[in-house]
Amino acid sequence: MGIDVAGSTFGIHTDTTSYVFAVTDQGLLRHLHWGGRIDLSDVIAEPLWELSTNDLIQDVTPQEYPCHGRFRYNEHCLAIKFADGGRELDLRYAGHDLAADLVVHLHDEKGVRVDLHYEVLEGIDAIRRWAVVHAEVPVRIEAVASAQFHIPFRDLELRNVAGRWGAEFQEVVQPVSSKVVLESRRGVSNHHHNPFAVLSRQATETSGRVWGMALAFSGNTKTVVEQTQYGQTLVQLGINDADLAISLAAGDSFTTPAVVATYTPDGFDPLSQTFHDYGRSLLNPAPRPVLYNSWEATNFAVTCDGQIALAHRAAQIGAELFVVDDGWFGRRNPEPNGGITDGLGDWWVDPVKFPDGLKPLIDVVHELGMSFGIWVEPEMVNPRSDLYAAHPDWIYREPGRDPDPARGQYVLNLAVPAVQEFVTTMLDGLLSDNDIAYVKWDANRPMSQVGAARDVWYRHIEALYTIVREVKRRHPGVLFEACASGGGRIDFGALSVFDDVWTSDNTDALDRLDIHRGYSLVYPPQAMRAWVTDVPNFLSQRSIGLAFRFHSAMTGSLGIGCNLTTMSDVDLRAAATFVQQYKQLRPLMHRWHRLENPSSNDYRLFQYSSPAGAVLFAFLPASRLGHTSTTVRLRGLEPTARYRFELDWQTHVARGDYLMQRGVRVWLQGDYASTIIRFDRVED
Ligand code: DGJ
Repeated sequence: MGIDVAGSTFGIHTDTTSYVFAVTDQGLLRHLHWGGRIDLSDVIAEPLWELSTNDLIQDVTPQEYPCHGRFRYNEHCLAIKFADGGRELDLRYAGHDLAADLVVHLHDEKGVRVDLHYEVLEGIDAIRRWAVVHAEVPVRIEAVASAQFHIPFRDLELRNVAGRWGAEFQEVVQPVSSKVVLESRRGVSNHHHNPFAVLSRQATETSGRVWGMALAFSGNTKTVVEQTQYGQTLVQLGINDADLAISLAAGDSFTTPAVVATYTPDGFDPLSQTFHDYGRSLLNPAPRPVLYNSWEATNFAVTCDGQIALAHRAAQIGAELFVVDDGWFGRRNPEPNGGITDGLGDWWVDPVKFPDGLKPLIDVVHELGMSFGIWVEPEMVNPRSDLYAAHPDWIYREPGRDPDPARGQYVLNLAVPAVQEFVTTMLDGLLSDNDIAYVKWDANRPMSQVGAARDVWYRHIEALYTIVREVKRRHPGVLFEACASGGGRIDFGALSVFDDVWTSDNTDALDRLDIHRGYSLVYPPQAMRAWVTDVPNFLSQRSIGLAFRFHSAMTGSLGIGCNLTTMSDVDLRAAATFVQQYKQLRPLMHRWHRLENPSSNDYRLFQYSSPAGAVLFAFLPASRLGHTSTTVRLRGLEPTARYRFELDWQTHVARGDYLMQRGVRVWLQGDYASTIIRFDRVED
């Protein structure tokens, strides 16, 4: 792996891939290869010519970072406005620097410089790209993507996820025959698309060429996939240019979020493994504690005694972390119509619900051997709060208009330094005054009506990252969970500051299998929170047995959200057994694989692998005609190592190659059937 330069050709090499581009006679950066490993000395830059007076060189050239202007009609990465009103950019190669990463300089004589950064990720089969725009004269950025990629094929398939609240991460596959745009315009939360693109040709989990790109940004994003007229497919990722304007004074610069990009000739599983490796490289490596969360049990009706009662039960079943969700602060009580318009912004402990503060509860939680966590929603304010009365100007609003509340709340303008300071100081105080190990950071409505400043779509998220980093610096070791009405804030930007993500408010154990599958395309299981909750499920109204519910949640980072004070003793004992089992499996749960199901019955198969063994989770939501078995071929095992496992009431020992090539038969019957099979590597 590494980066090499031969004349005006650049090669960025991971262990198995090469990414190559060169400078053309016109000073453009022409993309030449992204795929399997090649040697730069073999690269031939075939001549490019204008195909007609309608197909001119700026469009015909697959450019690394095309800009608006001249004869560029396909997607471009950068559009700016100069002080004289001119909008044409003419960026040409102006040198490069090669140190830890490669920086290629592009320059426009009218006063703009762009540095393109290329980095090979240490120990990860992926590269990272981003751009820095330097203004030599005052300019206004109107569009600025992080990177553009070119795949030398047409008729590719695009994989992404689509959804909405309660139905995040539904995998969507579509042919790319023209242009597809996936975007977020909501600022703080987005359940609809995720900022990644996976392109393939006839690939399966274990075969076929696959290219994947994911943007590290949690706000407005835009992913464009365009099949060009010239037999290629271009992919561009970056912050969304919708309603965007970023003004730079002479001497200012703007750095885009990064894109992580990976290629494999071997299907979706290795692609996901590389993305998961990258995700894990951002995360705190400590295993996540089994948590209990009070939300579904109590909603806003939080009291000290009620939480203490839950804490006793949570400890009894083996929880390691007790998290008090919404409702502990301010005057946070639903109104007769169910609405809630008070509390957010007033981060003092409610003296009615907690007459002696949080300490009595935290003390009990600690005495029970658990750590303590708390819910906050720092970007928001309710109209009836003291904070809003004091600072009505701190929210996003359009001049001359009343702002619209959603969920009875407004969004604070985090781009304002005083607001950032307020949020940072509030969190610092909360963590200094109380022994808190875990913060669940929620955000329950999108941004809207932002007024004149069109850079806030970016600045808000930049401020969010800055605040979390600063609070973590002051309180090392505290884990932060990203939640935005469920899974509205999950991306590599979020994972670079948060430790856990709340995947969805949909806690139905069957729905969650689909959500987990979509999530697993790009993001690592270690950060994925999943809870076992009561039945009938509040959303699906479905009643699924405890084993299936636990098994489904155990595929992620286990949490429990049941009302434990109303749970039967039998269920409490069963829950304790599942939690105990999860703790024993946790060390084996490292790499996460989606297994193919060859059966006509609808088995859902997830598997974990680690150097010490593997864990198989098999689910059968409904037994159908024939009630057949499935054959499970494992992945990620050592071919010559031997593994011990229990199957059909017998203990077996088999080599990794047998388990991966031939596989084992798994036969479930009945509705909502599930099982876990553990494979322990046997020392020779
Ligand atoms: C939305 C979250 O996704 C839930 O888990 C819960 O924290 C509520 N907000 C609280 O208001």
